Amino acid sequence: MNIAVLNGPNINFIGIREPHIYGTDTYKDLEKIIREHCADKDIGVEIYQSNHEGALVDKIQECYGKVDGIIINPGAYTHTSIAILDALKAVNIPAVEVHLSNVSKREPFRQISYIRNYCKKTITGKGIRGYIEAIDFLNNLNNNI
Ligand code: DQA
Repeated sequence: MNIAVLNGPNINFIGIREPHIYGTDTYKDLEKIIREHCADKDIGVEIYQSNHEGALVDKIQECYGKVDGIIINPGAYTHTSIAILDALKAVNIPAVEVHLSNVSKREPFRQISYIRNYCKKTITGKGIRGYIEAIDFLNNLNNNI
């Protein structure tokens, strides 16, 4: 199985940005636990981060025909981007939405997620462990096909 883990704007700054909200684990820590967990489970993984909406759309399109599952934390684009939703629908690859923070307990503008209805599952408020839960979910899904 091959998966892609896609992160949107400012996720590369975790550990530095608002640690009371996003925690103290760094982006390097995130990459490390993802790579270790995927190696453990024999899953191929590409990890990608961009601060640009179009670059994320390009990367989702690149996944077409290559990956069996997408884990995506679009950062603030969660709440604004129809383009990212359309890209996910276009490639039609099972996806999991992950947020480090518990967005449901935050500002009203964070309650909107354009991608949520497309995604098979949403994981929030678990910090970087949420990505591991997402990997396991996609792995189980793939094994049950
Ligand atoms: C986030 C939540 C978003 O509202 C915010 O814009 C982010 C990070 C999270 O992981 O909790 O950048 O996606």
